[in-house]
Amino acid sequence: METVVLPDPGALDETGIDPSLDLHAEIDRLRRERNAVILAHYYQDGEIQDLADFVGDSLDLSRKAAATDADVILFCGVRFMAEVAKIVSPQKTVLLPDAEAGCSLEDSCQPEDFRRFRLENPDHLAVTYINCSAEVKALSDVIVTSSNAETILAQLPADRPVLFAPDRHLGRYLAEKSGRPMTLWPGSCIVHEQFSERELVSLKGRHPLALVAAHPECPDGILRHADHVGSTRSLLDFVISSEHQQFIIATEPHIIHQMQKAAPGKTFIPAVGMDGSCDCARCPFMARNTLEKIYLSLLNNAPRIELPEDLRQAALKPLQRMLDMSVSVNVQPVAF
Ligand code: 13P
Ligand code: SF4
Repeated sequence: METVVLPDPGALDETGIDPSLDLHAEIDRLRRERNAVILAHYYQDGEIQDLADFVGDSLDLSRKAAATDADVILFCGVRFMAEVAKIVSPQKTVLLPDAEAGCSLEDSCQPEDFRRFRLENPDHLAVTYINCSAEVKALSDVIVTSSNAETILAQLPADRPVLFAPDRHLGRYLAEKSGRPMTLWPGSCIVHEQFSERELVSLKGRHPLALVAAHPECPDGILRHADHVGSTRSLLDFVISSEHQQFIIATEPHIIHQMQKAAPGKTFIPAVGMDGSCDCARCPFMARNTLEKIYLSLLNNAPRIELPEDLRQAALKPLQRMLDMSVSVNVQPVAF
């Protein structure tokens, strides 16, 4: 189902932008005029992170989207993140600079296949990673991010088996941490999956004092070498608070921009892929957003996220559960 409304055919596009235009000044002017807030994920280019009003991980960004009093949310991230903003803040205009900014995890889990997966496992609770479409959210019992998944799993009734979709690496990691077996959807992130264990061991050998910080979307071969595993914000908090000075970062390398700002004296070494470089660790979906597209999006009021109200309501239910369950751990398991 198409949830992104594109600009009008006659609207200004990138080819029509005056090259002498000060894009930063124009974005600031439009942000004020439209009463817009710019939210950005840590995987965005450093220049975009720096112009954002708020930079965060997927949980913090969804909380920010729910709480803002701006009229417009310009979401510098990928489509599922902008959809979440619209689901929790339906009265706001939600803009995504590039309509094609998707996610390999979302692509791996099509709603009709996921519906079948649920029908084949009727007793199971569906715990679904936030990196999925609104349709898949609507078919789920509860949504999680990598920062709240363990807290939420601890609140599920012990007698219900669990389906976890769409990231098999995060699912395997959570099953091991929680001791709770799960039936896993076979999806993965194209960025995290390509990190090389052999190259990581070699990097560790060359930097023996460095600690390894890894995102749980990485395969087990990477995570078993990690000193800290967590969401993007958790990785950032770890390197800031650690007494160590050197870190190997096994996640999308744009987060290093934020790490360098917060801990300027420390050294951050990006983990590398099978080809021995860190270029393939850049998320091609996040990279679709540019300064030009941010400017055009505010100018054209598009691409804009619009969801049918029945779909939005159905997707809100498991998302609201997530927001409620990640605030505090209930003593009693939550009823489903
Ligand atoms: P975080 O919730 O850790 O920010 O993860 C988002 C994401 O897409 C990781 O690939
Ligand atoms: Fe999706 Fe991976 Fe990009 Fe995150 S880094 S948005 S999981 S493709």
